[in-house]
Amino acid sequence: MAAVLPLADLQGQVRRVSWLNSIIKGDCVAALEALPDHSVDAIFADPPYNLQLGGTLHRPDQSLVDAVDDDWDQFSSFEVYDAFTRAWLLACRRVLKPNGTIWVIGSYHNIFRVGAIMQDLNFWLLNDIVWRKVNPMPNFKGRRFQNAHETMIWASRDAKAKSYTFNYDALKASNEDVQMRSDWLFPICSGSERLKDDDGKKVHPTQKPEALLARVIMASTRPGDVILDPFFGSGTTGAVAKRLGRNFVGIEREQDYIDAAAARIAAVEPLGKAELTVMTGKKAEPRVAFNALIEAGLVRPGQVLTDARRRFSAIIRADGTLSANGEAGSIHRLGAKVQGFDACNGWTFWHFDDGQSLKPIDELRTVIRNDLAKLD
Ligand SMILES: C[S@@+](CC[C@H](N)C(=O)[O-])C[C@H]1O[C@@H](n2cnc3c(N)ncnc32)[C@H](O)[C@@H]1O
Repeated sequence: MAAVLPLADLQGQVRRVSWLNSIIKGDCVAALEALPDHSVDAIFADPPYNLQLGGTLHRPDQSLVDAVDDDWDQFSSFEVYDAFTRAWLLACRRVLKPNGTIWVIGSYHNIFRVGAIMQDLNFWLLNDIVWRKVNPMPNFKGRRFQNAHETMIWASRDAKAKSYTFNYDALKASNEDVQMRSDWLFPICSGSERLKDDDGKKVHPTQKPEALLARVIMASTRPGDVILDPFFGSGTTGAVAKRLGRNFVGIEREQDYIDAAAARIAAVEPLGKAELTVMTGKKAEPRVAFNALIEAGLVRPGQVLTDARRRFSAIIRADGTLSANGEAGSIHRLGAKVQGFDACNGWTFWHFDDGQSLKPIDELRTVIRNDLAKLD
């Protein structure tokens, strides 16, 4: 069961209270003040939409539409909504790690205001993702287009943050080896996933689909990361984070939602380490210097390297460079030089003789990388 921390218990003693994998009860702006600087890897925020609904809405058969008319979605003006948005975004920015990223989901009612304020606060917009709903609600009055999508803004903390997590290779591999696009197709939350009370009534009016959160989390976090959701609602972020081996911290002001979220998360079984390993591409592999091969005894000074067809050869020097024909340089520079090219990947160009055949020195780099992986 996720611990539920009343905000009163938290203020002033956050260092003693473990807020990891907890739901903090209270207003998110105040609750965020109690969290340490730079303590979360990612944020998923599904703030009030400020729907400004006037009166009740009926279907053509006169049945009442279960619209979002709750207190938490009421703001007296755009100015009040903007001030609230600025306050929670600023508070989020402080707790986000320098290379962390934030997702904010919204509809046409609020997302443009939110996006402008994010830019004003120096967040750096990376993408706007369109969540296209497979099964959207109809437009009952027939006076507008059917509203069939929501928008998610994905942003880094600022323009300087370059090393944010983006599991590009894994997303591509899971998408028929095609780059993942910015328009995502998912059904709205329904069926057995939708939390209902004993009378069959929806527990939360805007419960998000787990598949949407799963893609957000798989795209922008790693196992063990901490994901903050300042508008926790029914706990979708917490449930998916736990299943995917991530930590969460949720903030929610309504006790009924907290109770439902805590029970929901308690029932989730996390996936195992093997299922959660994230595929990475070549760029994500640790850098290995050629010198590391000499230090590990995999090659030795004086040893001769050649290309795959033995047209060119070079001698390994004790300082980690190669020499040939009176020239010296790195494996890359000398590889390019002997061929008369501008550039060359020395790891795949130079080969060593293992007594049976010629092999690229890249195989020796893999030996070092495998050793490094065992240290993780
Ligand atoms: C759009 S819903 C989030 C739904 C959630 N993503 C889910 O899947 O269930 C927004 C939630 O934020 C909560 N909320 C609104 N204002 C808040 C505030 N100032 N502090 C904390 N929670 C707030 C509401 O009670 C509501 O549950």
